[in-house]
Amino acid sequence: MCGIVGAIGTQNAESILLDGLKRLEYRGYDSAGMATLDAHQTHIRKAVGKLGALASLLKERPCPGSVGIAHTRWASHGRPNEINAHPHQFGPITIVHNGIIENHAALKKDLLAQGHQFESDTDTEIVAHLIAQFKKEYPTDFPKAVSKALELIHGAYALAILDQDSPDTLIGVRQACPLVVGLGNGENFLASDFPAVLSHTRRFMVLEDGDMAILHKDRVQVQNIHGEIQTRTPITLDWSPATAEKGGFKHFMLKEIFEQPQAVIDTLRGRFSLGDLELVLEGLQTDLLKNIQQITIVACGTSYHAGLIAKRLIEELAQIPVEVDLASEFRYRNPLIRTSHLVIGISQSGETADTLAALVLAKSKNAQLVALCNVVDSAIARLCNTSAGTFYTRAGPEISVASTKALLTQIIALYLLALLLAQQRGLLHAQTLEKHLDSLYQLPLLLEAALKQEPEIRQTAKRLAQSENILLMGRGLLHVAALEGALKIKELSYIHAEGYPAGEMKHGPIALIDEKMPVLVLAIQGMNYEKTLSNLEEIKSRGAQVFVVCNETDHELRQAYPNALLIPTCSPYLVPALAVLPLQLLAYHLADLRGLDVDQPRNLAKSVTIE
Ligand code: G6P
Repeated sequence: MCGIVGAIGTQNAESILLDGLKRLEYRGYDSAGMATLDAHQTHIRKAVGKLGALASLLKERPCPGSVGIAHTRWASHGRPNEINAHPHQFGPITIVHNGIIENHAALKKDLLAQGHQFESDTDTEIVAHLIAQFKKEYPTDFPKAVSKALELIHGAYALAILDQDSPDTLIGVRQACPLVVGLGNGENFLASDFPAVLSHTRRFMVLEDGDMAILHKDRVQVQNIHGEIQTRTPITLDWSPATAEKGGFKHFMLKEIFEQPQAVIDTLRGRFSLGDLELVLEGLQTDLLKNIQQITIVACGTSYHAGLIAKRLIEELAQIPVEVDLASEFRYRNPLIRTSHLVIGISQSGETADTLAALVLAKSKNAQLVALCNVVDSAIARLCNTSAGTFYTRAGPEISVASTKALLTQIIALYLLALLLAQQRGLLHAQTLEKHLDSLYQLPLLLEAALKQEPEIRQTAKRLAQSENILLMGRGLLHVAALEGALKIKELSYIHAEGYPAGEMKHGPIALIDEKMPVLVLAIQGMNYEKTLSNLEEIKSRGAQVFVVCNETDHELRQAYPNALLIPTCSPYLVPALAVLPLQLLAYHLADLRGLDVDQPRNLAKSVTIE
């Protein structure tokens, strides 16, 4: 959840670390800190709150030195205050940490019994004490002291560690929390995520669980805790640093909403060979999918909504029964999984703890696994690569905590997977496949058209900005769009919003409807339209403030609701992809009009790597 950056080279580390933290702030942001080494002295600066507080402190008291580590924190142990902020130091050892040391209580008890005293409430400080303790045994072997300490700790962690006595060395450790090594020229880096150091290098080594990377300015060695050398092949990313910037938009979220047409193009690129009408889903062992009889999809948050859409696509096109479960429920309910089962994990970050645990459980029951991820080589991707494989969405880095372009690309990737499964089962004639692909290739243009309505959507947001509640209603796939719209509105604007299946209105939510309740109805021709219109009438007759999402060709509704949010006409399977777009913009503008922190809503984090 927290963000880690480390640097070792010849330049001043402070600016590299601060810049890296800025790009990682989405991972957690209740406090931040930095430590550098200079002439065998450790310099530590910490500040509570957003990164600006640390930046101001550094202006007054800079951190000298060309080796250092830094951290943004999202509290898991101990309150978010300066003492609990990382780095933590004990003796010559300074450390930053992401994750949880599960046996911290027992370790702390032992250390207290030996006379150690602790300053903070964190589990991290204990690791600094342990390493410093082993340094006494191995005074000239910093890596050995780290290894010995790692033998004692259990849990999920990524660590970056400095030793005042070894100023030419920086150590990074990965165990079930993300950590990559950036390979520069005369300088090397550690980071929780690629964008942190993308302005310095595009060459990375992705660490695996159990890896300890020993960084010097001119070389990097990876070993396990037993000192055995591990070979990790570097990868080169084609993300430019500018890709991870706001690109002129007020917020990352707005930029990412506007990137959706391009993201869809990237998702589709090269995944279909025209000549032989073949779908090319690289990364998947498609032969393993031929005999699948049942599918379960596990995911969290917005990715779960992509799963709900995929259920309809796969069941209708490939005729395979699909169940969709929240990963946090699936992992604790002893699900019925057989060997003929495919379990698909959907995760933008590829690091979500519940989704990962759900897939591990499914694997233990001998199901085939497929991951749909955005972040390359993430934990979920690597797990599924030992089974039927990982299919990447290629949405590019998503910085805003609220997911937008990741969802769009997930829908497209799952559509392609549904088509592949249908083709494998002989249910898809060439002509029908061509029709589906035609509509997919048209989607970016339709998204561009829908984005043009942003000014009108801001006007609608102005009418809703003071509301305390908003109900969103739709049927079928539009119900899923309503769920996603409600999630976006809640998490960004803090307005209570509910997505409801319009057909269930009479079984509860109708009791909420009066003139104070704004209701947004998604009514699209060809999608249970007449039934939804009846619901619309019932809502209107109870005096509610009605808002509508409809087709731009729906002249009747447009006349009745001149401020209707419009979407272009498209194939029913792609309607949810288009219908969420005005809802994303609505949620964005509601939050912006209410003066809220759009990219980092309170209490939320981009990747939830602990329960
Ligand atoms: C967090 C994020 C959401 C995201 C969810 C699942 O709650 O704030 O935007 O949808 O995690 O994340 P994943 O990376 O697994 O898709």
